[in-house]
Amino acid sequence: MDKIQVFLTKSALYHGAAEYWGKIARLAIEQRGAFHVALAGGNTPKGLYQLLASEPYVSQIDWKRVYIYFGDERYVPMDHPDSNYRMARESLLDLVPIPPQQILRIQTEYPDPKLAADSYTQMLKSSLPEGEHFDLVLLGVGSDGHTASLFPGTSILTERNRLVAEVYVEKLNTWRVSITYPVIEKARQVLFLVAGIDKAPVIACILSEPQGRDFPAQRLQAEGEVHWYLDTDAAHEWEHQK
Ligand code: 6PG
Repeated sequence: MDKIQVFLTKSALYHGAAEYWGKIARLAIEQRGAFHVALAGGNTPKGLYQLLASEPYVSQIDWKRVYIYFGDERYVPMDHPDSNYRMARESLLDLVPIPPQQILRIQTEYPDPKLAADSYTQMLKSSLPEGEHFDLVLLGVGSDGHTASLFPGTSILTERNRLVAEVYVEKLNTWRVSITYPVIEKARQVLFLVAGIDKAPVIACILSEPQGRDFPAQRLQAEGEVHWYLDTDAAHEWEHQK
């Protein structure tokens, strides 16, 4: 059963998520010597990343033992304003002492997104313990119910063999590269971080039908723990229909 927490403000949401991240990171480092985490893109997680790079959180994490991955990437150059890597670098990675070789980004330099997806698959296989297990996958949700780059009506939703795949998102007229359901489902922990009133309708649909399949964020058959951290705006309709 997914665990759902609603926070009064966006700031409280970010502090709650930073506490959770710290707890999971310390546990993973204690038990397995390292913390392997896949970052979410988009706008919402930026506030969390900025908080993790500041006190008291930054000193509570042994960054030398943290391995950073990306759940998905827009197929743009790494310094492009839309790049998830750039957003994470500017809000967190440049500000904390993670060894550069432990920041494993999706390389969008390849001429073909399929090559980028296959290369990232090799990177996951060679750097993740036992080949497939993240300690934490951080995810957002779009107002259409997509998560990572698992968009409604796209081929990647039925991908069960490849760990990472390219996907063309017609309505955005762009390519994305994303981890697939099997990888997310094997993670020890999954944290959905969602804020804003524009997400309230889809969150109400997703959380009121946990076994539903209408929305990609709903279709996760997770083997590990799943947490939903919402601010009151994102939880508004769900809370009022309960
Ligand atoms: C991306 C994300 C995507 C994101 C949602 C929510 O690359 O855009 O990985 O899945 O989490 O689109 O985005 P916002 O946080 O910007 O609303």
